[in-house]
Amino acid sequence: MAVPVANPQPPFNITRASHVVLTARDLEASRAFYADVLGFVASEVADDALYLRGLEERNHHSVVLRRSKNPAVGALGFKLASEEELDKAARYFGERQIPHRFVQKPFQGRTLAATDPLGMPLEFYFAMDQLPRMLQKYGVYRGAKIQRIDHINCFTPDVQASHDFYNEIGFRTTEYTAAEGSGELWAVWMHRKGGVNDIAFTNGFGPRLHHIGVWVSSITDIIHICDVLATTGFLKSMERGPGRHGISNAFFLYLRDPDGHRIELFTSDYLTVDPDHEPIHWDLLDPTRQTLWGAPAPKSWFEEGSLFPEVAIREPLLKAKPIVAP
Ligand SMILES: [Fe+2]
Repeated sequence: MAVPVANPQPPFNITRASHVVLTARDLEASRAFYADVLGFVASEVADDALYLRGLEERNHHSVVLRRSKNPAVGALGFKLASEEELDKAARYFGERQIPHRFVQKPFQGRTLAATDPLGMPLEFYFAMDQLPRMLQKYGVYRGAKIQRIDHINCFTPDVQASHDFYNEIGFRTTEYTAAEGSGELWAVWMHRKGGVNDIAFTNGFGPRLHHIGVWVSSITDIIHICDVLATTGFLKSMERGPGRHGISNAFFLYLRDPDGHRIELFTSDYLTVDPDHEPIHWDLLDPTRQTLWGAPAPKSWFEEGSLFPEVAIREPLLKAKPIVAP
């Protein structure tokens, strides 16, 4: 078993997964999908970028789409607890000789860009422009009524290495999948905010983004968006679900946006703030792990993901395979 104990005193204080920057070919198509159909709020619509937030979010953006001929992932964003924590983060990356620099990002205060040991581009910041929350503007609710970003899920070629880095900077493991026999880490779910995950890793060709998880208020919102997607020309955007995960207990629906980026609508996980709770173990071949009702995920779900530009994809270290739908 290779899940070390959590680090109770991380080098800097991350509050949560905050935003993801993606590139997209046609921002009008992106806007139609994310805002008009799914129910994100468009915070800023420009020629070269679309900034989105959920209904309860006061932060300016949680999903950013920049125009590009090549759909990819620009950065994974994390909010820190204060400006001082940002300086602590810069010191931490400097001491470990991990590439990092302060950069200017629209609608954000000081932003530290860094790279994790597998090559994923990260952004840390404290201050972001704020906009009115739309939580009680029920008249503008539409689609799945997206409330907020919940988590970021990535393929990694080395789950143990990814786990060890994020564990060191304070993410706590809530659940994990171990390969049969060897007990090696095959997937991990790690959090800062007190839910099941802010970031999660799955064994696979990577690093690549697997999906962005966004929170919705109820299971009926997920059922409703299935009806909406099926009758408004978006039937093919539904990749997996709806269903209930064994891991996390969350009710889910996986979608592919117009550029193939994967979005999970997610609700009904549980509280994880108690620091003494042991991570929950799952066997890779347990059929209730992926879906509590036993249905395996499609092949595309294990094989397709969004690329980080200029980051070489490596073959996964573990050869163990999950159960895949025929
Ligand atoms: Fe997820």
